[in-house]
Amino acid sequence: MSNPWFLKLVGISLALVVEICSGDKYSRNDFPSDFVFGSGTSAYQVEGAANEDGRTPSIWDTFAHAGNVHGATGDVACDQYHKYKEDVQLMADIGLEAYRFSISWSRLIPNGRGPVNPKGLQYYNNLINELLSHGIQPHVALSNYDLPQTLEDEYGGWISREIVKDFSVYADVCFREFGDRVKYWSTVNEPNVFGQGSYDFGFLPPQRCSPPFGMFNCTRGNSSTEPYIAVHHILLAHASAVNLYRKKYQEKQNGYVGLCIYSFWYIPYTDSKEDAIATQRANDFLLGWVLDPLVYGDYPQIMKKNAGSRIPAFTKAEAKLVKGSFDFIGVIHYSSIYVKDNPNGLVVQQRDYTADAAVTFIGLSIMTEFKVSITPWALEGVLGYLKQAYGNPPVFVYENGLRTPHNSSLEDTPRVKYMEAYLEGVLNALRNGSNTRGYFTWSLLDVFELFDGYDAGYGLYYVDMEDPNLKRYPKLSAHWYSDFLKGKTVGSDPERVGELNQNYISYS
Ligand SMILES: *[C@@H]1O[C@H](CO)[C@@H](O)[C@H](O)[C@H]1NC(C)=O
Ligand SMILES: *[C@@H]1O[C@H](CO)[C@@H](O)[C@H](O)[C@H]1NC(C)=O
Ligand SMILES: *[C@@H]1O[C@H](CO)[C@@H](O)[C@H](O)[C@H]1NC(C)=O
Ligand SMILES: *[C@@H]1O[C@H](CO)[C@@H](O)[C@H](O)[C@H]1NC(C)=O
Repeated sequence: MSNPWFLKLVGISLALVVEICSGDKYSRNDFPSDFVFGSGTSAYQVEGAANEDGRTPSIWDTFAHAGNVHGATGDVACDQYHKYKEDVQLMADIGLEAYRFSISWSRLIPNGRGPVNPKGLQYYNNLINELLSHGIQPHVALSNYDLPQTLEDEYGGWISREIVKDFSVYADVCFREFGDRVKYWSTVNEPNVFGQGSYDFGFLPPQRCSPPFGMFNCTRGNSSTEPYIAVHHILLAHASAVNLYRKKYQEKQNGYVGLCIYSFWYIPYTDSKEDAIATQRANDFLLGWVLDPLVYGDYPQIMKKNAGSRIPAFTKAEAKLVKGSFDFIGVIHYSSIYVKDNPNGLVVQQRDYTADAAVTFIGLSIMTEFKVSITPWALEGVLGYLKQAYGNPPVFVYENGLRTPHNSSLEDTPRVKYMEAYLEGVLNALRNGSNTRGYFTWSLLDVFELFDGYDAGYGLYYVDMEDPNLKRYPKLSAHWYSDFLKGKTVGSDPERVGELNQNYISYS
């Protein structure tokens, strides 16, 4: 997905920290040769063909069609369903080593369970084969907000334990059909944001929340309990799929399965002890919610204490299944937030997920649009935190990028600076012992964004939405990434960006 969703949550005073990094030069050769560079998209955001060849709606289709995304939908999106060959060629033009995409569950298995749709199967086989024929490694996510609507209607989707079985069967189909060629799987995308955004605030599909919490007048839901229940079921579904992969496929297919989390870099607002503790609490509620069960087999103590009986408990057998159920962690990172202790959050009687965390988010150290402040140490910090708090697991940075208005210039210098600085942060983390294995920009194209629709994008390629052919145009960032991947030395140097701009002009 990718968006500064918290912008909508709190009256933030935007603390713009301009922190362009000092300007060390580096190149592709400074990264390990098997470190992989790619870019990504997700099914509903890019495929289009929403009602074609047997696909049925997902909860994201329903959300968009209810007018929640500036009236826009993913019905057509970038039409990658029909243009995948062209798009793989665009990746090859840049020199991408990998492409991260997701499978639409309701395209592959239209009713959520039951027969596999041959047209869906054919599409993903075609895409995977096209990638491999260009030497591009597929990294596949199984679920990215687009749960089949039928399962939501039938039993409430992720809030029902029935989802564990259906998800495992769906995962089994994917491993069986594509696992001979796909070596990197991730299960459910950013459950930590999904849990909060979809079941506490209710501003993400399937829009469940309850008064006085939630930002919408949700007609269903319970903000006090459902965020915890949904994430619990996601963890069980994830672990069950990993268990199945390990038992049935891993030895033959030699692949890896991980889970992808959303991360902020949290910065204590003051030097006070309270803010330091609040920052740790914020990390526990955001990262620990998912990573503590995966690494240690249980939720963080502070979550259990603050949420009490509202957070489900793992049985012994479940804890055993969940603990260690990953080969790598996917990290999604865009920005930083200042954290201030909120003692009131801990004493209110009726609480939801957000109040349980008892922190106030004061501001961002990154702002989108053109007033960019670039804080490469934020991603470096997240990678360092994973190393120290979770035993240095293998990591892929699966999303990182900068949002700009759709109609802004192809000369996206802010995005180039952003990538240049954040990659330097990744390199610094690697040099300090982080086990990071790859870096993927969000996103390959300007896709259908969760909040912005087509009004803003993160793409290396601009997509002309007015053009019936949805023609793609490379931005400066596409050229920059391509140069970098060809071995050119880069570094956040204003002169170099100027030089890039000139190259760009000569390209177009
Ligand atoms: C929720 O309902 C209240 C009262 O009917 C209304 O004032 C408010 O605008 C609604 N909020 C949203 C986000 O629809
Ligand atoms: C949410 O669930 C809890 C626990 O079952 C219950 O006490 C509370 O009343 C529910 N809230 C709403 C709004 O339904
Ligand atoms: C881009 O779109 C926004 C909002 O639609 C508009 O206000 C702005 O003037 C446009 N800018 C350009 C350069 O067309
Ligand atoms: C490097 O790693 C060490 C040990 O894990 C840590 O204490 C230190 O803060 C890290 N340095 C930076 C600059 O992140």
